[in-house]
Order: sequence, then C-alpha cells, then structure tokens
Amino acid sequence: MKICCIGAGYVGGPTMAVIAQKAPDVRVTVVDMNQARIDAWNSDTLPIYEPGLDEVVKESRGRNLFFSTAVADEINAADIIFVAVNTPTKTYGVGAGRAADLRFIESVARTIADVATSGKIIVEKSTIPVKTAETIKKILAANSRGLSFQVLSNPEFLAEGTAVVDLHNPDRVLIGGEKTPEGQAAVEALSSVYAHWVPRERIITTNLWSSELSKLVANAFLAQRISSINSISALCEATEADVDEVARAIGHDSRIGPKFLKASVGFGGSCFQKDILNLVYLCESFGLPEVAEYWQNVVKMNDWQKTRFATRIVKTLFNTVAGKRIAIWGFAFKKDTNDTRETAAISVCRDLLAEMAEVVVYDPKVPEDQIRRDVLGAEEGEAGKRLIVVNSAEEAAQGAHAVAVLTEWDEFKTIDFAAVLAGMPKPAFLFDGRNLLDLDALRELGFTAFGVGKA
Ligand code: NAD
Ligand code: UGA
Repeated sequence: MKICCIGAGYVGGPTMAVIAQKAPDVRVTVVDMNQARIDAWNSDTLPIYEPGLDEVVKESRGRNLFFSTAVADEINAADIIFVAVNTPTKTYGVGAGRAADLRFIESVARTIADVATSGKIIVEKSTIPVKTAETIKKILAANSRGLSFQVLSNPEFLAEGTAVVDLHNPDRVLIGGEKTPEGQAAVEALSSVYAHWVPRERIITTNLWSSELSKLVANAFLAQRISSINSISALCEATEADVDEVARAIGHDSRIGPKFLKASVGFGGSCFQKDILNLVYLCESFGLPEVAEYWQNVVKMNDWQKTRFATRIVKTLFNTVAGKRIAIWGFAFKKDTNDTRETAAISVCRDLLAEMAEVVVYDPKVPEDQIRRDVLGAEEGEAGKRLIVVNSAEEAAQGAHAVAVLTEWDEFKTIDFAAVLAGMPKPAFLFDGRNLLDLDALRELGFTAFGVGKA
C-alpha cells in the first residue's frame, strides 16, 4: 500500500512518521509546497520540536518514509491520500474572523482531480467544518474523468508536546465514511493501516458528518473545561479559595474527572480558538444563535483571562509598569513545543508594552525572530525597542521588577530563585501564570508571589 500526505506540518509530519514506523510494509510520502519545510524534514533539524519525534523519523526516513515537493507524482502513486493542510480562521469576506478558510482544502481537491490517473481514497485529516467532505466529493466528481474516489473523515486528536505518545497510544482513532459498500471498503482499508498498532476496539467508525463534527466538538469541550476553571480562578482570587484545591476536589468526581482542569493565563494553540469560532459560525449558519452564543463565551472568557493576567501585574506594581523591566519566562503556548500560535504570551506582552514596560522574554525553544514577529508584527515601531529576547531565564530576570511565568517549562522549577531574587529591585514580584512553582517557598525567600486563582 502507498500513502501520500499533503501538508508537512505539525499534524502531517508526526502522524505520517508514526504510520511509517508502525507499518513498515506501507510506503509513506509526505508532500508540501513549502520547499524549506520539506528540506528541514529531510535534514537533522526537523521543522518542529516534538519530544521523541527525531527518533521516530530517523527509524523510517529513507526506508518507507519520504518527504518531497513532488506533489503531483506522489498523488498519482498513492492508494490513500491524507489531506493535512492548514485550515485557519478566515480573515476576509463572509465569515471573516470566525469561519474556516477552506481554500487550501479546495485547492488540494482540485489538484488531486487534475493529476490522478486512478481512483483514490481521500482522507480528511485537517480539522474542517461539518459537510466539507461534500465539497470535496463535488469537486472530484465534476473533474474526475470517470475515476472513482472515496472521501473519509479521520480527524486527528494529538496534542502538541505529546504528539508521539498520543499517536503511539491514541484514546481512539475516528474514521467516518459513507454507508455504501465502496465507502465501507475504504473505511476498512484505512482501519487496517491503524490496526498495525491500535487495538481494533479503539478504532471507531461512523458516518462522515458525525466524524467531522466530533472533532470540532472534542476541541470545544476541552477548551470549555479550561475556560470554566479559569472563570473560577477569578472567584478564587476574590475569596481566598485555591483553584488547584477546587480542581482537585471536583476532579475526584468520576463524572467530572481530573484532566484539563489546570487554571492558567489562558489557553493558546492553533486550534481551540479557531475550532470554536468555526463551530460558532456553523451554528449561526444553521439558524442556532443561542447555541452559537453559548460556545462563543468560551473564547470570550479566555480573552478576559489573558487580559486579566496583564492587568493584575500592572495593578500590583503600584498601577504603573512604565519604564519597568518585566521578565517573561516562556513564550510557547505550552511546554515541549516551539509553537507560538495564539499563545497567551502574545497578548500579555502586547498589553505590557502598551503600558510602556520593557518586556524581556526567554523561551528555551522559540527563536527571537518568531517572538518579535508574533508580538510586534512586520513593523516593529517604538515598542520594538522595549521588547528584548534573551538566552536564559536568569538573564531575563536580572534587574526586573517582576517575573511572569507564561509557559510551564520544566527548567523553571529548578531555577536558583535566591540568585534571581538578589538581582531584582525590591519588592520583587513573581506572577506564576501556570501555577508551576511553590509560592510558599518563593514567599519565604522574599518574593511577593502570585499564582492564578490563588490569594
Ligand atoms: P501547518 O500549518 O503546520 O501545516 C500545514 C501544511 O500544509 C503547511 O506546511 C503548508 O505549506 C501545507 N499546504 C497548504 N496547502 C498546500 C497545498 N495545496 N499543497 C501542499 N501543501 C500545502 O498546520 P497543522 O498544525 O499541521 O494543522 C493542519 C490541520 O490539522 C489543521 O486543519 C488543524 O486544525 C488540524 N489539527 C492540528 C493539530 C495540531 O496540533 N497542530 C491537531 C489536530 C488537528
Ligand atoms: C488540542 C487538543 O488537546 C488535541 O486533542 C487536539 O488534537 C488539538 O488541540 C488540535 O486540534 O489542534 P493542543 O492545542 O496541541 O491540543 O494542546 P493542549 O494540551 O490541548 O493545550 C491547549 C492549551 O490549553 C495550551 O495553551 C495549554 O497550556 C492550555 N491548557 C490545557 C490549560 O490552560 N489548562 C489545562 O488544564 C489544559
């Protein structure tokens, strides 16, 4: 069997690397129009940082895993084509700011129809609005020159930072297909790929539309839990309750469960906000404004949480941070990834720069040019002079009035805080946006320390 995956990003790369590792009898090629990205996949420095990924890629690359820009050739050679291109929020026209931009999906469907010389199974791996398979089918049918295509939905549930573990041991693999004999044969062909390492009972099959919708709903439910606990964090700060204690207490209820109840500076990442906005837009399109509003509030609460964190810093530092150095520890949207898309750090840094602070950022995996582009955009302007990126947490904190922990990198737990404190003007403030550190120990040392959802 031959697989081609279009899109060599955070999903296409790791997913295909694991398929190639676990199914050595399958030839897997990942294609992308971005030459630099493909070159990086073929080099010793992969384009994304993900624990364990280097080893997985090294095991199969050149054996049955290939990275290429020869999109047309690889489409033609493949039996199964995964579509793992980006589906960002639309920034223009109808649905701007909410609907998913499906132009990359449509363009891939047209390319497949143009270049394929035999029938294929097309697998939607990207996260897309429910009913997108219909669009793909129509484009293929109108251009197929008599070839037969099957479209499946197979959403990806991996989380960044744990992608390899998630792919090796998924809670479930979801496959949606048509209820026709051809549709079911395609579902079985894809199931047999995953069955190389995923127990059959964890491979859930369903119809196309349930599968497509389940992906948006899974992300909406996960994000909703974070906004729920973050909303309670504000109440905790006002009442001297401790949000971690509340989460522990409610998480012991097996109906609620302990996971995804960690209060934070706000969720980030390329998908939660995008997918909820997409769900909101879908609900509105189907005449369900109450449902749309319900889910919109998950994003609203997250925006508020990010702003609230920056405002708390300003208020605590005697209502002004103008001219004060503020250290930002961690810029990635979570630990163990170099991804900064929608990271809460962007919002916090911008708010502090707007208050005329000098913002000094350290992140172990995110390069300086990425941080500058994310915070300042293309035109650096005056604020660019007040945004500094350094190479260690200690260097960032040197001379800073406050340290703000925005990503839960493990290395922050083992820092010599006495030495950090010695280099800071007093009172020395610390704001732990991840509830990562031992606040009591920090206070004992002499810090004026705050967590999220803690008095
Ligand atoms: P990404 O931006 O990292 O990668 C997408 C890649 O597709 C890019 O390299 C781009 O050059 C390529 N591409 C776009 N159009 C192309 C075309 N016509 N031909 C060839 N290549 C093309 O995106 P990602 O983070 O991998 O996400 C991909 C999809 O998976 C999105 O729909 C996303 O919502 C979904 N998803 C992402 C994650 C995640 O953790 N990032 C998890 C689950 C699902
Ligand atoms: C999320 C989902 O967890 C994946 O299942 C899904 O496949 C993926 O989105 C996607 O569709 O892209 P990801 O965004 O990579 O994965 O990472 P998460 O671990 O979900 O974290 C998202 C954000 O929520 C991070 O900023 C994280 O710090 C934050 N978070 C997470 C909290 O603030 N509290 C928590 O309890 C959990």
